[in-house]
Amino acid sequence: MPNTSTGPRQHPIERLGTPLSPSATRVMLLGAGELGKEVIIALQRLGVETIAVDRYADAPGMQVAHRSHVVTMTDGPSLRAVIERERPHLVVPEIEAIATDMLLEIENEGIAEVIPKARATRLTMNREGIRRLVAEELGLPTSPYAFADSLTGLYAAIDDGRGGGIGYPCLVKPTMSSSGKGQSLLRGADDVAKAWDYAMQGGRVSQSRIIVEGFIDFEYEITLLTVRAIGASGEVETCFCEPVGHLQVNGDYVESWQPQPMSEVALEKSRAIARTVTGNLGGRGLFGVELFVRGDQVWFSEVSPRPHDTGLVTLASQRFSEFELHARAILGLPVDVSLRSPGASAVIYGGIEARGIAFAGVADALSVPGSDLRLFGKPESFMKRRMGVAVANGEDITQARSRARLAASRVKPLIA
Ligand SMILES: Nc1ncnc2c1ncn2[C@@H]1O[C@H](COP(=O)(O)OP(=O)(O)O)[C@@H](O)[C@H]1O
Ligand SMILES: [Mg+2]
Repeated sequence: MPNTSTGPRQHPIERLGTPLSPSATRVMLLGAGELGKEVIIALQRLGVETIAVDRYADAPGMQVAHRSHVVTMTDGPSLRAVIERERPHLVVPEIEAIATDMLLEIENEGIAEVIPKARATRLTMNREGIRRLVAEELGLPTSPYAFADSLTGLYAAIDDGRGGGIGYPCLVKPTMSSSGKGQSLLRGADDVAKAWDYAMQGGRVSQSRIIVEGFIDFEYEITLLTVRAIGASGEVETCFCEPVGHLQVNGDYVESWQPQPMSEVALEKSRAIARTVTGNLGGRGLFGVELFVRGDQVWFSEVSPRPHDTGLVTLASQRFSEFELHARAILGLPVDVSLRSPGASAVIYGGIEARGIAFAGVADALSVPGSDLRLFGKPESFMKRRMGVAVANGEDITQARSRARLAASRVKPLIA
């Protein structure tokens, strides 16, 4: 039944209502994967009415939301229809592949508040938007980069024939992609054509634009989880979680830990970059600011205006996980970003292609001291699909990492 009660209130939300009643505070998640599922659980605990939307049935977040809808979120009219039908107070994108122009309309017409802001979701869904903003408008350090729309253009961007260009090694990525899809590392001219073809297959939408980035020989990379929340002053204030270190394989995260040790200078630079970027994007919520670090040098890489996959570690390591922090920040509630104890996370991949799989070894995994598990409940497994994560605490990150890895390795996805 269409919900015809009052539309969005002035932000921040001043009261929380009772779910499934006219007073309900309604929040719609656009994208209901493992990250959205945790945000929904956090919202449920505060008595928020939750609506999960994704492009397939039985997505993880749908399994814990009050209601759910299967919608092609890249289709503007379909997206608008579900928002008009549900009349959420807040619309919370969990993924990048959304008709963000429609989110701008929704925001402009005052139909719902978009988290953190519709403009932020539009800029970050495309590597070109956020890169030009950060490097060219905000003047912050990034890898050298160029864009190309053809194989010839890519060759020219890497080597302009006059001793200029991005050079080798470099990375080619579709401008619209995530989790390392369509991304390759190029060591010489022989790699260019293959990288172009791979990027064309890996892009999220049918478009043929790529970014080529100079390779940064970083010592380590971090996600600086940055929260914009209403503080004691009554205004939005910015605060930072301890830095999350992580390991990526082929552009996909396999392990993360917190706190990543850093020099004071590198930490201060990282916070300054994160404050500037998230301040420009605006709104309330948690952001994952990805940075490369070498000694005291810091480069901005990219930003998610929402919880970050590497931040799954905070389920173990922080007093409030990144998902709880996001839930609080978007509702206009105070946040506490303190660390509880060093922690780590290790990804559990499907390793098989099947629907309705089973997990063996769960008891063994959970017998690892200080460990915990999340099995996401995804209806279908693929070789490289993230199906779960092990998290662990330890006396230090070394111990936490080995515990998380051990627990993850004991979980065996099987054909049921
Ligand atoms: N310019 C670069 N130099 C060195 N490593 C990079 C560069 N760009 C990306 N990477 C590596 O690839 C990973 C994924 O790239 P990223 O741009 O974050 O893509 P995605 O949006 O798919 O997460 C990064 O976390 C980093 O490990
Ligand atoms: Mg990334």
